[in-house]
Amino acid sequence: MSKPAFWLRCEKKEYERRAALTPTTAKRLIDAGFSITVERDEQRIFDDSEYEAVGCTLVENNSWPSAPRDIPIIGLKELPVSDDPLPHTHIQFAHCFKRQAGWEQILSRFHRGGGNLYDLEFLTDANGRRVAAFGFHAGFAGAAAGALALASQRNSETLGILTPFENEDAMVKKVRQALGDTSNIKALVIGALGRCGKGAVDLFQKIGLKDDHILKWDLEETAKGGPFSEILDADIFVNCIYLSSRIPSFITREQIIAAGGQRRLSVIVDVSCDTTNPFNPIPVYSINTTFDKPTVAVDVGSGNPPLCVISIDHLPTLLPREASEQFSSDLLPSLLEFPRREANRVWVDAEKVFKEKLEEAVREINSKA
Ligand SMILES: NC(=O)c1ccc[n+]([C@@H]2O[C@H](COP(=O)([O-])OP(=O)(O)OC[C@H]3O[C@@H](n4cnc5c(N)ncnc54)[C@H](O)[C@@H]3O)[C@@H](O)[C@H]2O)c1
Repeated sequence: MSKPAFWLRCEKKEYERRAALTPTTAKRLIDAGFSITVERDEQRIFDDSEYEAVGCTLVENNSWPSAPRDIPIIGLKELPVSDDPLPHTHIQFAHCFKRQAGWEQILSRFHRGGGNLYDLEFLTDANGRRVAAFGFHAGFAGAAAGALALASQRNSETLGILTPFENEDAMVKKVRQALGDTSNIKALVIGALGRCGKGAVDLFQKIGLKDDHILKWDLEETAKGGPFSEILDADIFVNCIYLSSRIPSFITREQIIAAGGQRRLSVIVDVSCDTTNPFNPIPVYSINTTFDKPTVAVDVGSGNPPLCVISIDHLPTLLPREASEQFSSDLLPSLLEFPRREANRVWVDAEKVFKEKLEEAVREINSKA
């Protein structure tokens, strides 16, 4: 019997330096008897030589379309838009199971090629929680971006372009340098018990905020229902909740304007990014911001101190090394089970979702034909 295998493809999305397989997890798979092929990729945070050193076979960038059909292709983000049929099994985030823009075209490529798609978002444990997610580093990076925006605002500047950091230490150092003394800074994190929330709290601790200056709220503290005046008393508010139903707003424009010059709040980081959701509990902004232009100003009424929002929806990209390591090690137990996927609930359930969505897409396409 041939060895089980994975083929790590390159990422084509701009700024994406993360990897679904890291040299650490590739080695664990090799030690367990897998053969691992890795496409050379200058964009990836890990050097090609790091994969080579642990026994991976290196191949040309973007050569997966000619890979043997029986090797599953693993990547992170969407494939570049194309009409080519997809005959392989792909493991990745495809963003096409919730009727996102272009979903039928993506699924039609699998239909025409006979390929299979295991979407990383739909690999879940027995409680329905994702087996691997990037939340912690999203919160960590979001809090760091918020702290940098506060530092810029204190210098009467607007935060400029954000680029991925080599590692967590470099990010913490940059924030500490930008802010100087952090002993008086107050932060409020809502959703503090979740993955993103824990990451945001960790960043604030690492940049030296006093523990009683980091307010950690979760369901219990918001049960009384917003809006919350406490948010106006923090320098940075980080929203990390998982929004699942309509809830009262956490903060409103009226409340901000009414606070006038008394407001301490300077930066909101909306890690949850339910920007266009009608139930967005932070209805004071309406766009997602980007690494090029990380902040958007809130209308605070004339003469009042400024307030900005960061609403970047791919924050973990700012910490590619640590974010990849955590994600990939959380994914590893499922990858080790992949050769026995017919008997493994995680993979069986993910394939079921794919088959359902594939049928739905085919019906939709046929109905328009
Ligand atoms: N911006 C990004 O780059 C990025 C990256 C990853 C995840 N996210 C998003 O961040 C959100 C959180 O993800 P997660 O993995 O941390 O989820 P999670 O389920 O681990 O944590 C969510 C937390 O929010 C709490 N919560 C839910 N409703 C609340 C409420 N009304 N009041 C107070 N607390 C509440 C929950 O109790 C939980 O502790 C999701 O919407 C996710 O899509 C964004």
